[in-house]
Amino acid sequence: MDAILGDCSLEHLRKRTSHKWRTYAPDVLPVFVAEMDFDPAEEIKDAIRAALTAGDLGYPHKGELGEAFAEFAADRLGGWTPAPDLIFAIPDVMTGIAEFIQAITGPRGGVVINPPVYAPFFFRLELADRRIVQAPLAAADGSYELDLDALDRALREPGVGAYLLCNPHNPVGRVWSRDQLTAIADLCDRRGVPVLVDEIHAPLVLPGARHVPFHTLDHPAARRAVVFTSASKGWNIPGLKCGIAVAGDQRAAAILDQRWDALLGSHLGVHASIAALRNARPWLDAVVRQIEANTRLLGTLLPEHLPGARYRPPEASFLAWIDCREMELGDDPAAEFLARGKVALSSGPDFGTEGLGFARLNIGTSPELIGEAVRRMALAVNG
Ligand SMILES: Cc1ncc(COP(=O)(O)O)c(C=O)c1O
Repeated sequence: MDAILGDCSLEHLRKRTSHKWRTYAPDVLPVFVAEMDFDPAEEIKDAIRAALTAGDLGYPHKGELGEAFAEFAADRLGGWTPAPDLIFAIPDVMTGIAEFIQAITGPRGGVVINPPVYAPFFFRLELADRRIVQAPLAAADGSYELDLDALDRALREPGVGAYLLCNPHNPVGRVWSRDQLTAIADLCDRRGVPVLVDEIHAPLVLPGARHVPFHTLDHPAARRAVVFTSASKGWNIPGLKCGIAVAGDQRAAAILDQRWDALLGSHLGVHASIAALRNARPWLDAVVRQIEANTRLLGTLLPEHLPGARYRPPEASFLAWIDCREMELGDDPAAEFLARGKVALSSGPDFGTEGLGFARLNIGTSPELIGEAVRRMALAVNG
């Protein structure tokens, strides 16, 4: 591993007290929640130290976050040039999405999503009394595609007021193409449904895939869309509470502006995000190189130790979606891995009924810990 990522030793990691490291007993290896194990970028630590020294711990002001994100997007996200004044600091992606959806839909309003998908897409919106309308991805031979017919049917359901797209997709790891995004934009435009896009995993697109920011489509649906993203996944700083919302037009900007109080994040998060986007790109590059190597490592370890597991390497990010159905571990293989192997993966069914028989493994760590996770999974299966 690149020295700037640290060594991911368990001795060091177990000193952490975050959700990942405190949810299970110390003899369980946690590979569930989407936190990586690498040491934080020095540039981020410097920015936080400078803020602490200055006593700069007040309510957040976005400062140069808009400019920093626009520079990063132009350089690293397909030449996207969002206007800084349409870029907002938010506490996190899910709060931004939930607030925005509550602004544009009424109680019991329908929100279309593509399961299997990130669990809070279901429960966070249900808690806000919105109705989830499912347009499942099409699955064939372990590969997932958008099902445009299913999407169109869902968009036409009465009361649907928003479509929440995940690109890159968690958990299946797909990065949707420009043609697919254009087809989505056409459908949503025809049905009059606004598009919200969660692009939080975009900084972690792996070599071979190309992320197309939704706002780079030359399309009326893209101009009305709102994109939600963050430095929190790419640079592993979710605890610092700063996400980014990019409004497509002034109307969306006004909705975000009016809700400034509900959307206050952390000022330290703003500092950290600016440092990440501007200065910590070599760290991000080292992470992407490591994840790519890890996807290949998993591709050799699984057939060796768990021949019944099916896995297609993700096109982006550090989450491996593993089909365990051949191993007959029941609907929730993660429960078996935990009980019998002391390794905590994310439960497939949390991502929707399409996730029955699946589990999600976090590979944002060292090759050694991936080996250890697979060893424990194999122990659960083989005894
Ligand atoms: C697709 C997706 N959206 C949102 C989030 C959470 O982001 P935040 O902490 O900014 O709400 C995650 C975290 O794993 C995610 O995978």
